[in-house]
Amino acid sequence: MNKEDYPVHRPHRGALPQRAGLGVQNVLNAAPSIMDANVYRDPDQFEREMSQVFTTHWLIAGRSDSIPNPGDWLTYEGHDQSVVVTRQSDGSLSAFHNVCAHRGTPFVTKMSGSSANCFVCPYHGWAYDTAGELIAVPERGDFDSNQLKTRAMPVSADEWAGWVWINMSNPKPSKSLCEYIGEDILSDLGEYRMEDMFVYEIIEYDVPINYKTIVDGFNEVYHVTELHKVSIEFTRSVRHSTFRVLGDNSMSIMPRPEFIEDVSSSDYDHHHNAICHYLIFPNSIFNCFNNHIQIFQPIPVDVSTTKFLCWELLYKGNEEDIRYLRYRNKSIRDWTQFKKVINEDIAIYDQLKRTKKSIAFNSQILSERENKIFRYHETMNAKAAPGGPGRVESKDASIKVEKS
Ligand code: FES
Ligand SMILES: [Fe+2]
Repeated sequence: MNKEDYPVHRPHRGALPQRAGLGVQNVLNAAPSIMDANVYRDPDQFEREMSQVFTTHWLIAGRSDSIPNPGDWLTYEGHDQSVVVTRQSDGSLSAFHNVCAHRGTPFVTKMSGSSANCFVCPYHGWAYDTAGELIAVPERGDFDSNQLKTRAMPVSADEWAGWVWINMSNPKPSKSLCEYIGEDILSDLGEYRMEDMFVYEIIEYDVPINYKTIVDGFNEVYHVTELHKVSIEFTRSVRHSTFRVLGDNSMSIMPRPEFIEDVSSSDYDHHHNAICHYLIFPNSIFNCFNNHIQIFQPIPVDVSTTKFLCWELLYKGNEEDIRYLRYRNKSIRDWTQFKKVINEDIAIYDQLKRTKKSIAFNSQILSERENKIFRYHETMNAKAAPGGPGRVESKDASIKVEKS
């Protein structure tokens, strides 16, 4: 089907930098390595990852179009935190911890809703406005009035690419959302225009393993041949994958076999010809095809339990246009096929559960093609080091030429 048959946005590289194809170096500068297995099961490290990383970095909270009007809200929940994001009358967002200043009850009881004027705590009836300010207290005269000059703890919120993002740094994040995502990913992932897409489906899995095991599965393509039984053409094609580290974040380009002849081009259009994969540290993963996008969000629950959200985005269009319906049906077929792939990943997580605490599981052996995994853990370990976050330098420049 040629591109005229799809009356939706078609992502193309255009003037963006070449990310794969002839002349592009594609393996990060790290030799095959050994990695400690305790990063998945050390409860102390997990607590530091939560307090030093997940509460100081930008996380996805939901979709902007799920809270279009003043008083609409959504709730983010994970790693013992509950955060509410509301749409204000001027179109901006407010966000705050969903924790009542009286005795700690979550005072917003539903995960999402619309047209709220205020939220009333179900325990003793304290009321908060939609920005989290305390506005009413029953039997107020019984309290010290100075102690009632309070509010729900604020959270930073912003929007990009149709997503609502939050950052629990207190008082403020050191980098704005866009500064944190960085120019390379803003432009490359931005080309997909996720703000023009809608959520076709969200699937939630309760996974009995550490969230980083899920991140690892998206930081390599080595497993697809055995676990997902892809074609030999696909295996050959993804040998041309490129990996690029961009500060805390990273980008992988996996050439698709249908367009493999283009991979020898010095003008390779990765948006059209490849599966483009972006990781915004620590846990926002975008898997982009030229007609639809999957977003994978492993949200930590505890050291060995993860809430795993899988989002499927399609482009909006005119449902009375037969060409749009052809696009939509094709994309839904692709997604249906991909759900089988996700279930294969879920099945291997169930297997990994059996040995995650085995005394025989002490380390992992990584190939040079799996070194994006090593890099991710290196970044996490530095930030979650005892005593406070460590500083990690970007190693984007240190890539080397593919050997084979
Ligand atoms: S805990 Fe919220 S009003 Fe008492
Ligand atoms: Fe997989």
